[in-house]
Formats: sequence, structure tokens, C-alpha cells
Amino acid sequence: MTTLYLCGAGNPEGIRLALTINQVQSRWDRIIILDDDPSKHGQSILGVEIVGSFNVLERADPVSDEVSNMVARTTRRRQSALRKIQAYGLPFATLIDLGVDATGVTFERDITAYRNALFCANASVDEASVVFMGAIVGHGSRLGRCCVVAPGAVINARVELGEGVYIGTNASILPDLKIGPWATVGANSAVVQDVPTGATVMGVPAQVLILDSSNRSVESSNAPGAEQQNPNRPCDPTTLESEQTEIKSRTLKQLRLAQEKYIESYRLTNDDLIHREEKRID
Ligand SMILES: CC(C)(COP(=O)(O)OP(=O)(O)OC[C@H]1O[C@@H](n2cnc3c(N)ncnc32)[C@H](O)[C@@H]1OP(=O)(O)O)[C@@H](O)C(=O)NCCC(=O)NCCS
Repeated sequence: MTTLYLCGAGNPEGIRLALTINQVQSRWDRIIILDDDPSKHGQSILGVEIVGSFNVLERADPVSDEVSNMVARTTRRRQSALRKIQAYGLPFATLIDLGVDATGVTFERDITAYRNALFCANASVDEASVVFMGAIVGHGSRLGRCCVVAPGAVINARVELGEGVYIGTNASILPDLKIGPWATVGANSAVVQDVPTGATVMGVPAQVLILDSSNRSVESSNAPGAEQQNPNRPCDPTTLESEQTEIKSRTLKQLRLAQEKYIESYRLTNDDLIHREEKRID
């Protein structure tokens, strides 16, 4: 009997993906969910039972069974789940929606690609990465290990994502940019310049909200003093919560002022153009 173990019960879409693939390809005799939260044990999602904690993997057969990491809320959590699962020495299943065109795309092992994800030619995706519904990975783009690309995000041509990068819903990364390892791009952001390692950026155009404290030498931030830790990275226990909140709200204020200035400068340019056009017509 072959079993697919889905690790993490917080991602019903992942369970649906596994069920849909199995309906067509009959890859496993059964699919079960594991979660380390005991209050979920015995429950079912889409008819698939949560049978126990990750330690059920001790009883799995490394020859016939496969495992998949369903955790994708942050890349830090994804990596931590990945490490736990790897300890059991089981093969990882690659779960790619059957409608995804993989021609000319390089997928390493343990990739998850959801419905309507679009991979352009010569894109490559390193192991343990996830690309959600409707996201676009442009031609020649490279996704590092353990990245998460949320629904609707657009990674334009030749963009490079380092290891553990998280791209929020509907974010857009302009062509040829490099997003440093463990960086986070906020939902709906438009990234117009490279992003430093461990930074959190957001907004249109995206600006640095948080710089990873382990990366203080990087001073390209548009928001000076932004040194709070990325939520995608392990927290520094010595930093007080109130201090973090204070830094974050100060940085956000700067970000909003910068955005207002940016919009205002566009408005002025536009007004100027209209004025010149009116004069020309007169
Ligand atoms: C950018 C992000 C990582 C910041 O997370 P965080 O550090 O926990 O930030 P918070 O939620 O505390 O928000 C801090 C402030 O930023 C604002 N903010 C959060 N995300 C924002 C975004 N994407 N764009 C603009 N402003 C944003 C919040 O409104 C809040 O403002 P306030 O302090 O005035 O109330 C997160 O908000 C985000 O966008 N995550 C991506 C989520 C996603 O796409 N999920 C996909 C699910 S499938």
C-alpha cells in the first residue's frame, strides 16, 4: 500500500491539489494528513483524515510512501517544517497541477505548483518551493530553495529569488531584479529595485519596511533606521516587543510619506504636461 503524507493541516488547497492529481494518476493508495496540533487529530479536510502528528512518519515506508510539506504561510515556518520532515528520511512528492505547462521549465524535487500557475520558458524552480494559483514566473527567472510565491504574484523575466523568499499575493517584481535570501515582499507591492537579504518590502513602489538585523551593513533602505526583524526570519529574543512596534510604526510613517511624495511628484508632472498641452493648443 502506498501512502502520501500531507504535513500541515492549514492548507486545504494543497489537499485538493493532491486529491486531484491522484484522481487522474492514481499515484497513492491513500492520502492522509499529519499535524502537530493534537486538537486537529481525528478531523477531516475534504474527506482526508488528520491522523496524528508528524511522528506518524516513523511508521512510513521510505520505499513506497511519499511526503509533502503543506506549510507555506511563511518561508521560515516552511523551512522549520521541512527540517522536521527530512529527519524521517522519506522521499518528497512533487505536486504539480496537471494543467501546468512545464515545457522548458526546470523543476527540482519537492515542488508544489497550483492550478493556473504559469511558468514561462527557461524558468527554474529549486527544491521545496511553492507557486500558488495564478502566479506567473517569467522567462529565465530563477526561484531559489524553499520560496513561496502567493496567488496572483508576477515574477517578471529573469528575476532571481534567493533561498526562502516570500512573495505576497498580487505583488509584481519588475524584470532583471534580484530578491535577496529570506526577503519578504508584501501583498500588492510593486518591486522596482533589488531587495536586500532578509528585508521586508511593501508598497507601490515597494520600499524597505524592515531590514534584517543580521544584515545591518546593507544601507540601501529608503526608510532609514528600518532595522526591525523580518517576520519571515527567527525573532531576536533580545529585542523588546514594544521597541519592535515603535520601529515598525516609525518606518511605516516614513514609507507612507515617501509614497505620498512619489504620487505628488507624478501628479505635478502630469499637471505640468496638461498645462503645456493647453498652452500649445492655445
Ligand atoms: C508585508 C507583510 C509581510 C507585513 O507583515 P507584518 O510585519 O506582520 O505587518 P503587520 O500586519 O503588522 O502590518 C503593519 C502595517 O503595515 C500595513 N501593511 C501590511 N501589509 C501591507 C501591504 N502589503 N501593503 C501596504 N501596507 C501593508 C498594515 O496595514 C499595518 O499598518 P498600521 O500599522 O498602520 O496598522 C504582510 O502584511 C504581507 O503583505 N504579507 C503577505 C500576505 C500574503 O500575500 N499572503 C498570501 C496568502 S495565500
